[in-house]
Order: sequence, then C-alpha cells, then structure tokens
Amino acid sequence: MRGIILAGGSGTRLQPVTTVSSKQLLPVYDKPMVYYPLSVLMLAGIQEILVISSADHLDSYRRLLGDGERLGLRLEYAVQDRPRGLADALCIGRDFIGDEQIALILGDNIFYGHALTGTLRKERARLDACTLFSYPVADPERYGVATVDDTGRITSLEEKPERPKSNLAVTGMYFYANEAADVALCLKPSARGELEITDLNRHFVDQGRARLVDLGRGSAWFDTGTHESLMDAALFVQVLAKRQGIRLACIEEVAYRMGFIDAEQLTVLGKEFVATSASGYGRYLMDLSGR
Ligand code: DAU
Repeated sequence: MRGIILAGGSGTRLQPVTTVSSKQLLPVYDKPMVYYPLSVLMLAGIQEILVISSADHLDSYRRLLGDGERLGLRLEYAVQDRPRGLADALCIGRDFIGDEQIALILGDNIFYGHALTGTLRKERARLDACTLFSYPVADPERYGVATVDDTGRITSLEEKPERPKSNLAVTGMYFYANEAADVALCLKPSARGELEITDLNRHFVDQGRARLVDLGRGSAWFDTGTHESLMDAALFVQVLAKRQGIRLACIEEVAYRMGFIDAEQLTVLGKEFVATSASGYGRYLMDLSGR
C-alpha cells in the first residue's frame, strides 16, 4: 500500500496565520501538524508516501522531511497548483500509486487511540475496494456523514448534509483498492469546481463495496480546520504529553517502533537534535534508543 498526504488548500479559515505558512506545517503543540497524519500512515506499516502541497509551500515540506531515508521511508513530493478537490490527490499521485493499494490522509487530520494501530493494520489486510473511518461527533453537519447496515457496509454518504442521517462523521483517512485511482481520473468537477472525495466514495457505495469502520469513542479525532479545533488538538496533545511523559506522533519513535530503523539510527537522529536544539526532543529519542 502506498500513502498520500494531501496538504494543500489555501487555509483561508485560519488567516492571517496561513498568509505565509502552509496550514499543515503549523504547530500542534510541539510538532508540525503534518507529523500526525504521517505517523498514522507509518503505523499502518506504509513506507512509501507522497506529500502533496501547493507550489508555494512544497519546498518547506521537502526541507522538513527530506527523502525519508533517515526514517526508513521513501518520500516523494508533488504540487497541487490549486485546490481542485480531495479526489484530485489520486489523479496527481497516479504514477506514484502504480499498481498498489492507496491510503489517502488529509494533512490536517489528527488521530489518536490505543487500538488505532491494530485497526489500521486489520483494515489494510481486509481491504476490498474502499474503507472509510468514522467518528461519532456532536456536529455531523460539518463533515461527510455515513450510514451503515449491520455488516458495516455503507448505505448512504452525504457531504455536509443539512439534516444528517447519523452522527458518524467520515474522517479524512481513506483506504482504496488500486482501481480507485482510475475512477478518480474519470470524475467530473462538482458545481464548486472540485473533484469531490464523496463522489469517488459513492462510486463504491453504489457498488456495495464501501465499508465503514467506526473508530469509536475510545479514540480521538480532530480536524484542525479552525482556530478553535486547532487549539483543541494542541491542548489534547499537551495533556497526554504532560501526564504520560510521551510524545504523540514522534515520527522518529514510530519509525523505530515499526522496525523501519534500528536503535543505532535512532541514536544518530537523537544526537543531531541534541547538538542543534535545546527542545528536549533529541534527549527523548536518545532515551528511547537506550543509549
Ligand atoms: O476532515 C474530514 C472532512 O474532510 C470530511 O468529513 C469531509 O467529507 C471531507 O470533504 C473534508 O471536509 P473539509 O470541509 O475539511 O474539506 P476541505 O475542503 O476543508 O479540505 C480538507 C483539507 O484538505 C484542508 O486541509 C485543505 C486540503 N485540501 C483541500 C482541497 C479541496 C487540499 O490540500 N487540496 C484541495 O484541493
């Protein structure tokens, strides 16, 4: 499976903080936002990942993450020249995807939960055509909303409905069979001029081949599209970090725990941070590596 992180858009709801910065590089407590979706893909066992952003910001992602080799990853980059819609990510990534399955994740979505890794791996292994992940919310009208039958098959899917048929928000993480990339290429832009992810997903819903996996109330999901939700996510990460002494979405730690790098490489990464920064991040990595 290959991963795609979509980190474009104009971030208009967050201006002026996004006037010169990419939204998905803004800090969420102690890390750039993109670390969170990147670590989710890594936890799913994915090592080949395409990062998509606007031409203005793509170089910043390159400088931050490089080619990924230091983390046992292969990272590639591609430009989305204007926000043509979420499904456009599969068109831009068509060559990168090749013959593999696809995991698309939005660069502003943050997931946390102790069962998350197991869920991701299980769903990856049992993927048929399209698997979406939902989260129960109090304000479903802000999101894609799904209903399911008792086998988990999606029976309806609506984007920001005025009268939601359920409280299950569709999160910004999508698992697809390879064929989805070709379906995306055939989509027509909607009235607002975008290739809608909901149209792509409906293709599989209509075929009875779209599954919904509820992440449930034992986990946390944030979409950091507004100042308020960005602050909520940062506070959540801070509370866990302070209380448990852990760092969420530490990509070096995830790479180590997933076996993408060994303790020696983790030490090298830790030493580099210790040498150049007093943030404590390097010490955290060194402690993990036991060196
Ligand atoms: O976060 C989950 C929600 O994400 C889902 O429940 C919805 O079904 C889905 O449509 C999407 O809704 P949003 O209202 O959050 O979509 P938005 O257009 O704000 O785009 C989400 C992120 O993707 C945002 O960080 C900007 C980025 N983006 C968006 C578009 C349209 C791109 O990078 N390129 C694009 O072309």
